[in-house]
Amino acid sequence: MFRIVKSEMLCENISQIVVEAPRIAHTCEPGQFVIVRADETAERIPLTISDYDREAGTVTITIQIIGLSSMKIAKFQTGDFLADVTGPLGQPSEFVNEDIEEVRKRNYLFVGGGLGTAPVYPQVKWCKEHGVPFDVVIGTKSKSTLIMEKEFTEVGGEHYFLTTDDGSYKHKGMVTSVMEELIAEGRHYDVCVAIGPMIMMKFAAKTALAAGIHTIVSMNPIMVDGTGMCGACRLMVGGEVKFACVDGPEFDASLVDFDGAMKRMSLYKTEEGRAYLAAKEGDTHKGNCGNCD
Ligand SMILES: Cc1cc2nc3c(=O)[nH]c(=O)nc-3n(C[C@H](O)[C@H](O)[C@H](O)COP(=O)(O)OP(=O)(O)OC[C@H]3O[C@@H](n4cnc5c(N)ncnc54)[C@H](O)[C@@H]3O)c2cc1C
Ligand code: FES
Repeated sequence: MFRIVKSEMLCENISQIVVEAPRIAHTCEPGQFVIVRADETAERIPLTISDYDREAGTVTITIQIIGLSSMKIAKFQTGDFLADVTGPLGQPSEFVNEDIEEVRKRNYLFVGGGLGTAPVYPQVKWCKEHGVPFDVVIGTKSKSTLIMEKEFTEVGGEHYFLTTDDGSYKHKGMVTSVMEELIAEGRHYDVCVAIGPMIMMKFAAKTALAAGIHTIVSMNPIMVDGTGMCGACRLMVGGEVKFACVDGPEFDASLVDFDGAMKRMSLYKTEEGRAYLAAKEGDTHKGNCGNCD
């Protein structure tokens, strides 16, 4: 059992919880995720680590309520317990294991959209702590859906750019319009990391790639086991079959088939769609998840 030491609603349908998980907190890195089970009978769902405190032995997760399991987790209060928190899972962000002197020579552009704001945070924080230069652009529908402004202001300062789709706060427009403005101002970026809804990542990547920036995106297909065994999170990257849970979730955006991934995600939602995928994807579908029997 994993004790929740803090629970708060960040906006109407997004909650954030800090949970005691010392082993995960000691080894996790930006870019990784955990699989959480609210109680003994609940579904296991993947959630990105949006902060960690190695000394306190805690990890922070940010949950958007979209279905039963996310709602159960979001409703937990301080002092409640989660049945399971498994991790850290997936590969850390690319820069974590690179030569730090080389990483410090690069300018990073982080782009977070909506809930994607949360997984961008540990990456930005890591860069700040390691003296890596960056700008960060956060986009949200309106002021009422904005999350983690205080944290980003503290870590990003003048390098934090905020935009709302409806113009209710700060800049008006999509993240891509801020990216274009920054690039047009003559700011140079070597790497862009974009995290958010698939459609936002597709267009953020298009903008960054058009400016010649190496771009990374974090893919979040449906996951079941999170260990590479079931095939649920299969993606095509550079013409090769990859599994987001073990090979990702971060991939080179220039190699990701966004349209294929979006189509597969919508097919995965129905029994008929899963049966079609099982027939089409052959051995690489694996079929060990029990969803398409
Ligand atoms: C690597 C990874 C990291 C993630 N990190 C976070 C995070 O930090 N915070 C967060 O809130 N969510 C995150 N997600 C998405 C989260 O796992 C899903 O929202 C969750 O599984 C939904 O479970 P549910 O039972 O509440 O909804 P369900 O009832 O299972 O689903 C409700 C609706 O959402 C769709 N859906 C289910 N899973 C996903 C998914 N993975 N992506 C998009 N739509 C989905 C379903 O098809 C359905 O239409 C992540 C997913 C992955 C793969
Ligand atoms: S969730 Fe990735 S293979 Fe099962």
